[in-house]
Amino acid sequence: MKTIIISYSFTGNNDALASSIAVALDAKRIRITESKRRTTAAIFMDILFHRTPQVVFTPAGIHPDDFLIFLSPVWVGGVATPLRKCFKLLKKRTGPYAFISISGGAAGPNAKLGNELAKRMGKVPAALLDMHIADLLPQDPKPQRNDTAGYQLSAKDIQTLTHQAVKVLHETLKKYNEKPRNGENRDFLTNQL
Ligand SMILES: Cc1cc2nc3c(=O)[nH]c(=O)nc-3n(C[C@H](O)[C@H](O)[C@H](O)COP(=O)(O)O)c2cc1C
Repeated sequence: MKTIIISYSFTGNNDALASSIAVALDAKRIRITESKRRTTAAIFMDILFHRTPQVVFTPAGIHPDDFLIFLSPVWVGGVATPLRKCFKLLKKRTGPYAFISISGGAAGPNAKLGNELAKRMGKVPAALLDMHIADLLPQDPKPQRNDTAGYQLSAKDIQTLTHQAVKVLHETLKKYNEKPRNGENRDFLTNQL
């Protein structure tokens, strides 16, 4: 079972984090890209019309039992739409997957992510980490959407977030590799922070 990181990013934050986590885990990394430059309007159109946008992504080299770690921004409470195609292609796999995001978080946790992932991937994630730019900013006054919008992660932020993510991923892999006890379902290892 290999660990493979698959990331999409609109403004660079999740790609920067994916790259750092890949180095920390010594994992292969695949970027999902789009041939046409995305506009903010296209984000809302995708969501409104339930579109699955065309992306540049080939699952070559991914084996059914590999541990996949997806990284993407959260848009309007959901997983960024460019991951939809990728989820469709990878849904029938047997191996576990994790979902990690550095999102804005000014309005609190993105509570619907777990359900969406379970629906699109056909099983719950082994780990789900919804990390927030709002938590990286001074807390007094409480950060608002204007403070988090357009924020670019600093090298120190990436280090902090990588540390948090790697800790969760190591724990998840450890649990997954432990021999399951009778009747235990490994799908229920969801680690929601
Ligand atoms: C159209 C749009 C909608 C967004 N919706 C949310 C949201 O519902 N929840 C959230 O926490 N962040 C939201 N964000 C903030 C992004 O998730 C955040 O800026 C993220 O770090 C961007 O990642 P990227 O640089 O990898 O594209 C939204 C951003 C955009 C552009």
